[in-house]
Amino acid sequence: MKISSAVTVRGDLILPGDKSISHRAAIFSALAEGRTRISNFGTSADCAATVRCLQGLGVNIVWDGTGLLVNGVGKRGLRPPGGDLDCENSGTTMRLMAGVLAGQDFESVLTGDESLQKRPMKRVIDPLVSMGAAIGSKDGRAPLSIKGKSPLKAINYEPSAASAQLKSCVLLAGLNAEGETSVLEKTQTRDHTERMFKWLGVDVREEKSDEGVRLFVSGDAKLTARDIFVPSDLSSAAFFIVAAAFLDGSELSMPNVGFNPSRKAVVDVLKGLGIDITASNKREVCNEPVADLTVKGSDGGGKSDLTVLSGEVIANLIDEIPILAVAGSQMKGGLEVRDARELRIKESDRIDAIVENLRRMGASIEEFDDGFRVERSHLKGAVIDSFGDHRIAMSFAVAGLFAEGETEIIGAESAAVSFPAFFDEIARVIY
Ligand code: S3P
Repeated sequence: MKISSAVTVRGDLILPGDKSISHRAAIFSALAEGRTRISNFGTSADCAATVRCLQGLGVNIVWDGTGLLVNGVGKRGLRPPGGDLDCENSGTTMRLMAGVLAGQDFESVLTGDESLQKRPMKRVIDPLVSMGAAIGSKDGRAPLSIKGKSPLKAINYEPSAASAQLKSCVLLAGLNAEGETSVLEKTQTRDHTERMFKWLGVDVREEKSDEGVRLFVSGDAKLTARDIFVPSDLSSAAFFIVAAAFLDGSELSMPNVGFNPSRKAVVDVLKGLGIDITASNKREVCNEPVADLTVKGSDGGGKSDLTVLSGEVIANLIDEIPILAVAGSQMKGGLEVRDARELRIKESDRIDAIVENLRRMGASIEEFDDGFRVERSHLKGAVIDSFGDHRIAMSFAVAGLFAEGETEIIGAESAAVSFPAFFDEIARVIY
């Protein structure tokens, strides 16, 4: 895919449904009692993989042209699959489904593509085994063969990483455990599971202490089917927000975007630079904060000192760091990211991918074990390696809009993992 530099971006964008919320909507409504209509379900390949895994477990899910209809089978109604369940590129599918399958009285295998088979699964295997499941793996990596147990043993768990996938995995397993299971969150991660559990009638009790917040679910809890509207994906919006923010004269409107505080740090960072982003019509839809966003372009705001992102905020913008790195190359004072070692175990080693590709475009960037520091740079078109990672492909397409000359993205098709229409939408709004 070839990208040329742009002068400005303008228009209205209807973005696809949030990927994290769509996964949860499909899984939780499959486990609920009754029928659910999910509107604005994410168009991503990752979410389609989740739907196919659930169908492989005997759940009737159909697309009726306007929404996804899910016939919930209840917590104990899943059927043994006829073959391996393929999570493709999706870490969220694998980690959440592992939590579901650990509490089922049958055997199943979760597998994935080459990238997913390299990602660490020991973090979910350990708590699920301590709850009573037997899980075979290739040295802590997929394929995972899960011999479930019903009921599981409740645990009080302290996660080894600040990860919403890990938290959600253990909370899902807790729904099939005897007694109350708890997870301690020392650093807050996205709270879509807790919000949707509550929407579907599952109480998530919270206990605050100096250590953090402990979340409790009871093995007696039941999910009750209730229609779900999925807000548009703020992580997908972020590519367009950054494009608009640094191209003078731009104006983009994006209605119905998820504006959950545990996800919106990317907007706060850009606003902190002085960029004009308005969130209007703030409301809650199905227990999720939503807003209409408008971004107006400038030359990158007024802040002229280095922006440093580290510590707790990292979890709230973990998926936006690749596009923020590109933004960093346009920020007057540059950008430093630390405490983001988790980026090395995403769909690619994102620290490596960011540093390698920004260097190819002529940016001045230093790599750290847990992040990078990028200075304001004049970008030049280059051949970019997406490393098969959707967020790298899309971030560097935006970098191409800022660069002089032509940029070629190798592996651009990986954008479909989260945002199949990305390149069509870019073409529609650039001038
Ligand atoms: C996700 C959580 C994050 C994020 C991923 C989606 C989720 O991963 O990077 O894209 O839906 O729970 P971790 O929780 O492992 O950091």
